Amino acid sequence: MDKYIAANWKMNNDFSDIPSYVEYLDKNLENKNNVVVCVPHVMLKTFADAANGIVETGAENCYFAEKGAYTGETSAKMVKSAGASYVIIGHSERRQYFGETNEIVSKKIAAALSAGLKVIFCIGEKLEQKENFKEVLNEQIVDGLAGITDFSDIIVAYEPVWAIGTGVVATIDDIKTVHAYIKSVLKEKFGVDLPILYGGSVKPENSAEIMALEDVGGVLVGGACLKADSFAQIAKSR
Ligand code: PGA
Repeated sequence: MDKYIAANWKMNNDFSDIPSYVEYLDKNLENKNNVVVCVPHVMLKTFADAANGIVETGAENCYFAEKGAYTGETSAKMVKSAGASYVIIGHSERRQYFGETNEIVSKKIAAALSAGLKVIFCIGEKLEQKENFKEVLNEQIVDGLAGITDFSDIIVAYEPVWAIGTGVVATIDDIKTVHAYIKSVLKEKFGVDLPILYGGSVKPENSAEIMALEDVGGVLVGGACLKADSFAQIAKSR
């Protein structure tokens, strides 16, 4: 199966970037399987319409309630109906700036799955937790996936917080060790073998080496995905 190439625009780019971004990917990517671009909610419909049949569209978040008085929130069903097929849940920026706990993450995963979305479930330790990564990741995985019985639409993304947007990429040895650990937790606790993406300062210069690793199921890219040519180079390196 093709490894996943996922872009996370975060709160960057604009409506005016969408047509040229999609057109570039369309023209320059021979293999568009499992290529997903996650964009801000407000741009989902426009992006999904432009990308229809070219690449997959994803959201960067969703709320866990189905509907109701939650001013400013967007349900998983709304995300799906805007044309997205994926959603990122539990990104470290959501955990850090918006108080998302493992319990909230778990509810969001359940809501996204029941709306028919594929979930990119993010986990990762902070710099001060690096020595202790096993405990942190184990808890994020076990609590985040609590109650899930069907794992077929879940992809895990390991993103060490200290490597996100910092230019500091985890070493190949770090990635091998941590991905093997995550794989073992998923197997032991849930009996599943899920794709595990790596994220954190992935760029065209390092993506091939990272994606060549057996336990790496693809990459989740922030800064280096904002320009279509750089993202396409990463996608071509798998
Ligand atoms: P980065 O972000 O590639 O800019 O480090 C990755 C992410 O946060 O998903």
